Amino acid sequence: MEMALASSLSMTILASGLFLIAFLILQRIAVLNVSRKLPPGNICLPLIGETFFFLKRHPATSVGEFTEHRMTRFGKIFSSHLFGKRSIVCADPEFNQFVLKNEVKLFQHSLPPSFEKLVGKHSILLMDGDVHKHMRSTVLDFLCVERLRTVFLSDADRLASEIVNSWNEKDVISAIQEATKFSLNIMVKKLLSMNPGDPEVERLSIEYNSLTRAFSCFPVYIPGTTYWKAMQSRNHIIKIFKQEMEARMRGGGCRNAGNEEDDFLGWLMKNTDYSQEKISDFLLGQLFAGHKTISQAISLLIYFLQTCPKAVSELREEHLQVVRSNQHLGDSKLSWDDFKRMEFTRCVINETLRLGNIVRFAMKKASKSFEYKDYVIPKGSTVLLHYAAGHLDPCQYADPEHFNPWRWQLQPGIIKVPDSFMPFSKGIRMCPGAELARLEMTVFLHHLILKFDWQMAEDDHPVATPILEFPKGLPIKIRAVSNGF
Ligand code: HEM
Repeated sequence: MEMALASSLSMTILASGLFLIAFLILQRIAVLNVSRKLPPGNICLPLIGETFFFLKRHPATSVGEFTEHRMTRFGKIFSSHLFGKRSIVCADPEFNQFVLKNEVKLFQHSLPPSFEKLVGKHSILLMDGDVHKHMRSTVLDFLCVERLRTVFLSDADRLASEIVNSWNEKDVISAIQEATKFSLNIMVKKLLSMNPGDPEVERLSIEYNSLTRAFSCFPVYIPGTTYWKAMQSRNHIIKIFKQEMEARMRGGGCRNAGNEEDDFLGWLMKNTDYSQEKISDFLLGQLFAGHKTISQAISLLIYFLQTCPKAVSELREEHLQVVRSNQHLGDSKLSWDDFKRMEFTRCVINETLRLGNIVRFAMKKASKSFEYKDYVIPKGSTVLLHYAAGHLDPCQYADPEHFNPWRWQLQPGIIKVPDSFMPFSKGIRMCPGAELARLEMTVFLHHLILKFDWQMAEDDHPVATPILEFPKGLPIKIRAVSNGF
């Protein structure tokens, strides 16, 4: 009996040893396999692949150990196995541009399957062709310049002023919380005509926080896991949207009925034949894209600026000049022209988006095989465009890990924008909310910089999980400044 047990144990050890040796040899062959012209990389275990290493949290202002290590070993284009799929990672800004230029011809959009379940099967992020075009044009109408310069600007101005004026001297505040209050309230008003203080707004805020956590976890759908909780939160959010639609169908009209301006939900219900399910997925994506990203961007502004007093004083001077000239004209409100003419503010925002990397990467699926330089990219493989690697590439930006807003100034009146700068992506999927994001960042900054100086109350830094987070909520201590306003 004991003999049989010992021999079966040694057989198991031998088999495991052989499996390990075969795996290491295969991995080595893959690294050296230049003849097939696949980008080099590690052969990985199926399903899990290198996803754990890729998702390992790292400073948002770096490319992370995973990418750094593979770029050194294999170059800026390398193979991997991520989110259950064979993947080509592109940390090369030139290749990223090639992909975005040829997106219609060579690619379909792609998300990890676990992300697809979170955003919903009707999400704009999963659509291609005419359906995508139609949804996109709806968003672009909603975010057109005319609406930005009127309703969005005045709402943002009023809300930012209310929030900043509610702070007291020497308060410690969570920058993330305050920025979320700002961006969420703008979005729920414009999408659903909900107002700050409505119980649904508080509920949506809580559920969105839980949903967001799932983008950084391993997707295990077992009661109690982060992923499971996120799916429950998704169901709650959809329920709120459906209740709102049903209330409108029963009682007629939206909450701001009587006003000439309709909200996004009202517009979708009147002008499209989308099902409730499709409208809900559309709204879920819009609300997520339109508030999480902006609160992260504003928090990054606050974080980077406290490291650079010179930028704060140049910025403050620019905003003071705007206020002085508006007072001279008898108007104290920030106008669209002010927003457009604040050049140094634009440089600070570009630098914040470059170094903070809110959306670090995007995934596309090759719809046919194609060649790029020395490589063959096989049909069906996932191509991961690593925007952050382009933004932190020393060949593109000198001293890339340093916050330097002046790098964008070519000469007075001209801002230099390199092709590798893609915080909002490019091409047919370029973010339709880019100008709104810049507008909200500018308006919040305007009210903040005229009223307060700030410093960190506790050490906190942005990390990529890969979703951008400040683990402590970015606590800052504020001190009033006297500008006479
Ligand atoms: C700083 C803030 C923001 C950043 C950094 C950002 C970044 C991005 C990026 C990189 C993409 C392309 C993703 C891909 O290719 O898969 C994207 C898409 C998108 N963004 Fe934004 N975004 C921001 C704010 C907003 C806002 C305010 C809205 C709307 C109110 C918005 C709505 C969208 C939508 C609907 C898409 C999908 C577009 C499509 O598939 O055609 N974003 N965003």
